[in-house]
Amino acid sequence: MKQTYISEIPKHLGGEITIKGWLYNKRSSGKLGFLEIRDGSGIIQGIASKKDVSEQCWSDCERVTQESSVIIIGVPREHPKRPGVYELDIKDMQIVQVAHEYPITPKEHGVEFLMDNRHLWLRSRRQHAILRVRHEIIRAVRDFFDNNGFILCDTPIFTPAACEGTSTLFEVQYFDDKAYLAQSGQLYNEATAAAFGKVYCFGPTFRAEKSKTRRHLTEFWMVEPEVAYAKLDDIMELSENFISYIVGRVLENRKEELKQVERDTTMLEKITPPFPRLEYDNVVKILQLGHAEGKLENRFEWGGDLGSPDETYISSQFEKPVMVHRYPAAVKAFYMEPDPERPELALCVDVLAPEGYGEVIGGGERASSLEFVLNRIHEHGLPEEAFNWYLDLRKYGSVPHAGFGMGIERAVAWICGLEHVRETTPFPRMLYRLKP
Ligand code: 4AD
Ligand code: MG
Repeated sequence: MKQTYISEIPKHLGGEITIKGWLYNKRSSGKLGFLEIRDGSGIIQGIASKKDVSEQCWSDCERVTQESSVIIIGVPREHPKRPGVYELDIKDMQIVQVAHEYPITPKEHGVEFLMDNRHLWLRSRRQHAILRVRHEIIRAVRDFFDNNGFILCDTPIFTPAACEGTSTLFEVQYFDDKAYLAQSGQLYNEATAAAFGKVYCFGPTFRAEKSKTRRHLTEFWMVEPEVAYAKLDDIMELSENFISYIVGRVLENRKEELKQVERDTTMLEKITPPFPRLEYDNVVKILQLGHAEGKLENRFEWGGDLGSPDETYISSQFEKPVMVHRYPAAVKAFYMEPDPERPELALCVDVLAPEGYGEVIGGGERASSLEFVLNRIHEHGLPEEAFNWYLDLRKYGSVPHAGFGMGIERAVAWICGLEHVRETTPFPRMLYRLKP
C-alpha cells in the first residue's frame, strides 16, 4: 500500500494508511500497546488492541524494540481530548528489522556519549526540531537574497591564500603544491561583486580554531553577501533587514520546533529593524564601567578585540542585536577600509545577537585603493603573489564595496536558544571531534 507520511495525517483521518518508519518509544498496559512511531516527518502514537489485531501482530508489538524499523497499517483519528493531536489505531504491523540494544535510551545521557552517537542522536525529538529550524533558516537566507536582486556565485574551497588571518588555516596537500581550506568566500565575492553587482556565496568554511568554546566549530557554514558601491551604513541596514527576515520566517514556520526546544519566543518577536548601533569607543566605556561595577572580571582597554565575555556582556544589555562598528584596524583583517576621519579605525561592523549570544555577523567596507591594500598585505606578512588577482580588482574599475558573513550555526544556536553550537549542525567538527 502507498506510504503516507505522518505530517500528512490530517488529510487521511478515518481511512486506512501505511506508515513506514521506526519505533520511537513503547509502553503497554495489559491488552493495549502504545507504540510511538516516527518516520522523519513526525511522530504519532499508535495503539494496538490485543483483541482487534492478529496474534502475529500482537506478538510483534510485544517483541518490537526501540528504533526497530516497522511498517504499520492503521487508521488515524484525532485525539478525543486534545484537538490537533492525532493517534493511529493499529490494524497490522510488519517488522523490517529488529534493533538490538539501541544505545540511546529514554534515560539521561552525558553530552560526550551523545556526541559519540551523533549519527543516532539525530533521531531524537530535540535534534529533529533544531535541524528543522536550521533548514528553515537556510531557506530564508536564500529567499532573502534571491528576492532582493542578489546573484548566487559560489566561491572555491581550495584556496591559495588566507582571508581571515594565518593562525587558523587548514593546510592541505594540493598535488605538488599547498592549498588552504577556505576561511571565507569574501575575497572571491569581491571579484564576483565587480562582475554582478550584488552577489552572495553560501558554503562550508574552515578554521583551525584551537580554542574550545561554545561558539567555535572548525567547519561551519557561512552565507556572505557582497555589494558593489555599498558603504558601511548600507551593509548595516542590510544586516538588520536580513536578520529580522530570518527570525520572522522561523517564527512563522517553525513554531512547534521552537516549542520543542523550549525557546522563549517573546524575545524573538522583538527582532525588527532598526537595531541599535554602537561605536567601538562607546563599547569600551560600557565594558570599563561594567568592570568598575564588578560585573566583568577584566578591565577592557581601548585597542583590544572583544572577547567572548565582553561580547556576552554587551549583547545582554540589549533586547535586539547590537551593531558594533569602527573597531581599531589593528585587530581586524587586512582588507578593511579605514575610517577617513580616524584612519586607526576600520569601517567594519560586528552584529552581536542578544541574550548574551555574541557575534553572529562580521563585515564591513573593503579597502578600494591599490596602494593601501598592497601595504596591508605586506604589513600582515601575506604572500603578495597569492593576491595578484585580488589586487587586479583595485586596478580595473575599483569601487567602494562592502559585505558581511553570517555563520549559520551561530544563528541557529541563538534562534533556538541553545547553550552550544554543537547541536546546530548534523555532524559538528570541533577541536576534539572528528567522529562520527
Ligand atoms: O567575522 P568573520 O571572521 O568574518 C569573515 O569571515 C568575513 N570575511 C565575512 C565577510 O565579510 N564576508 O566571520 C563571520 C561569521 C562570524 O560572525 C560568525 O557568525 C561565523 O562567521 N564564524 C564562526 N562560526 C562558527 N565557528 C567558528 N569558528 C566561526 N568563525 C566565524
Ligand atoms: Mg568576526
